[in-house]
Amino acid sequence: MPLLLPVTPENLAKAAATLREGGLVAFPTETVYGLGADAANDQAVARIFEAKGRPSFNPLISHVADIEAAERIAIFDGRARKLAQQFWPGPLTLVLPRRPEGRVSLLATAGLDTLAVRIPNHPAALELLRAFHGPVAAPSANPSGKLSPTRADHVVLGLGKKAQLVLDGGPCQVGLESTVLSLTQETPCLLRPGGISLEALKELLGPVEVAAEGGAIQSPGQMESHYAPHAKLRLNAIQVKSGEALLGFGPTAPVGCLNLSPAGDLIEAAAHLFAYLRELDQPGVDVIVVMPIPRHGLGLAINDRLRRAAADR
Ligand code: TXA
Ligand code: MG
Repeated sequence: MPLLLPVTPENLAKAAATLREGGLVAFPTETVYGLGADAANDQAVARIFEAKGRPSFNPLISHVADIEAAERIAIFDGRARKLAQQFWPGPLTLVLPRRPEGRVSLLATAGLDTLAVRIPNHPAALELLRAFHGPVAAPSANPSGKLSPTRADHVVLGLGKKAQLVLDGGPCQVGLESTVLSLTQETPCLLRPGGISLEALKELLGPVEVAAEGGAIQSPGQMESHYAPHAKLRLNAIQVKSGEALLGFGPTAPVGCLNLSPAGDLIEAAAHLFAYLRELDQPGVDVIVVMPIPRHGLGLAINDRLRRAAADR
């Protein structure tokens, strides 16, 4: 069983230390419980996807304690500041341009140049974020495809031992995920309805587009929203020609090539995926050739992502 702990100063310190060590901590927010990891640690973020058993990589929300911390990882304009002032802390997630020098893992944003950020309105979440001193990537703390947890015991039931520690802050007040609003184009776009109403957003912003349910431009899992390399991708390959760059996997990969995981560890491979694709995607490289990746565990999500990138051409 994971440690189910009441919210005390000692347990908050323990939770922050667990995050620092790259572990997973489930914590309460006003919306639902989140499964948190150090957003700057690729491997820790990879563990989130593994724990949720997700067959694809969805970009994650970075949780921060204050607006200064948010501005260190994302680029705010006037609209974003106005929204933050009005609704933070609270159930509003802003999708903004990613600050290039920000330390958030590329895996946490699924390789995108945008980043989702929010300040949760829950004392335990805020204290944890302050104690940790950095952004915490956290999806809802449920296995993929299951209902979001609004009580600590839901988390334990759903995730079992996959979180090292679960902070019990009682039932969540909102009980519904945050509203996700993209400010990456001229007209703000509602990507997911949630705890802050569309009306409230329109009152402050004027016109707001609404992404079509389950599809449309930027919604979760759509390839348009993902990083696509300029080079073509050839998957499940073992031979490389000139003008091609090899992305290796496992102990049989040629020495000297960029290797997602020389040991064949899928968590390590997921942690490196987006960064290595970017590294290989240079002028002069026409094709990135990727060695076969096993189709189990995180390998499903890695293959899903590679397939999308290959199909985007
Ligand atoms: O209330 C909540 O938002 C909870 C608590 C824990 O904060 N978190 C949550 O996370 O619901 P998750 O991962 O289940 O949902 C995050 C949503 C997904 O729909 C994802 O596609 C979207 O935010 N998202 C994250 N980053 C994005 C980005 N850069 N562009 C577009 N959508 C993004
Ligand atoms: Mg969710």
